[in-house]
Amino acid sequence: MKVYFDNAATTAMDDRVIESMLPFMRSHYGNPSSVHSHGREVRSAIEKSRKKVAELLNASPSEIFFTSGGTEADNTALVCGIESHGITHAITSPIEHHAVLHTLEVLAKKGVVKLSLLDVNDKGEIELSQLEELLETNPKTLVSLMHANNEIGNLNDLERIGGLTKEYGAFFHSDTVQTVGHFVHDLKNLPVDAIVAGGHKFHGPKGSGFLFVRKDKKIHPFIHGGAQERNMRGGTENVIGIIGIAKALELAYEDMAGHRTQIERIKKHFIEKLYQEIPGVEFNGLSEDLANSLYTVLNVSLPPSDSNRGMLLFNLDLEGISASGGSACSSGATVGSHVLRALNHNPERDSVRFSFSRFNTVEEVDFAVGKLKELYTVEA
Ligand SMILES: Cc1ncc(COP(=O)(O)O)c(C=O)c1O
Repeated sequence: MKVYFDNAATTAMDDRVIESMLPFMRSHYGNPSSVHSHGREVRSAIEKSRKKVAELLNASPSEIFFTSGGTEADNTALVCGIESHGITHAITSPIEHHAVLHTLEVLAKKGVVKLSLLDVNDKGEIELSQLEELLETNPKTLVSLMHANNEIGNLNDLERIGGLTKEYGAFFHSDTVQTVGHFVHDLKNLPVDAIVAGGHKFHGPKGSGFLFVRKDKKIHPFIHGGAQERNMRGGTENVIGIIGIAKALELAYEDMAGHRTQIERIKKHFIEKLYQEIPGVEFNGLSEDLANSLYTVLNVSLPPSDSNRGMLLFNLDLEGISASGGSACSSGATVGSHVLRALNHNPERDSVRFSFSRFNTVEEVDFAVGKLKELYTVEA
């Protein structure tokens, strides 16, 4: 049996997404910037995709910009949000994805902004009172706090954070890569200025993404070149990626509640089975707390074990189970997670992130827990 429990790293494409993209590889190959009919039909398909994405997120099409993924969208929002709005101070947390953390660190190193990192407790939670204190004393601030953490699944309350940033006139960017396609975002009402998405996190193609920037918070382009994306991103569009991400989002919204119920059942069963079978098991961050974590992520901390130390992901892989130690770039290694370090996680314990999609089953959970039990009883 082969089991894929690394859906926070990337998901399998839905066949219907692939079908929607095929005509744009085979016959609709015009350059969308060309004014002849071959170009115009592709331009029209791109704009239909933009409209679809905007409708699903309750935004305006003029607020959606297609990108090469979440990383580019985060970079654009942060670098250009800061430049365009004369921002001199940025607030984030030490457990953000590197697409945010490294971008802000580079800007701080260059002297563009002063960077403040919020404290996190051992469960990865921030204190809004600390955010408010920093906002009070620093005008011209950008706040970047993710909706859901990709490693431990903690959810931030975007309503409350957005309420505070509004009160103090700060620019609020949220990395929503792990929640677009899994949660409803009502952008006319959610107090955020910029959010981002990556299509491959919800059964769309890799190398596709988008950035939402609120109309009244316009920013400069990040990539200079042609007039594509209404002068916001130069370069011939990734047409198949755009068609695919819009289709994937449409499918995600068709039965989001149903997918959520199915995946929550898998996660709940996983937690129960682990408690039954692995004495001393613990969960990192809030991932065990179904109400306060991303339903697709479970971060498991296993008791110290000589035969698995540093080898757990490798041992699971040998058994046909694909999981991860954290973000995709650190897959294959349980060491080095900046998120777990920030939570003061005991390095004697191995951690593994299991992440789910609607293509997983309860039987796969039983298989994985059975294998974990074998790995952890060898020594006993
Ligand atoms: C929270 C978060 N932000 C950003 C990214 C980067 O997205 P992409 O792979 O589309 O560039 C990821 C991907 O792992 C992520 O989980």
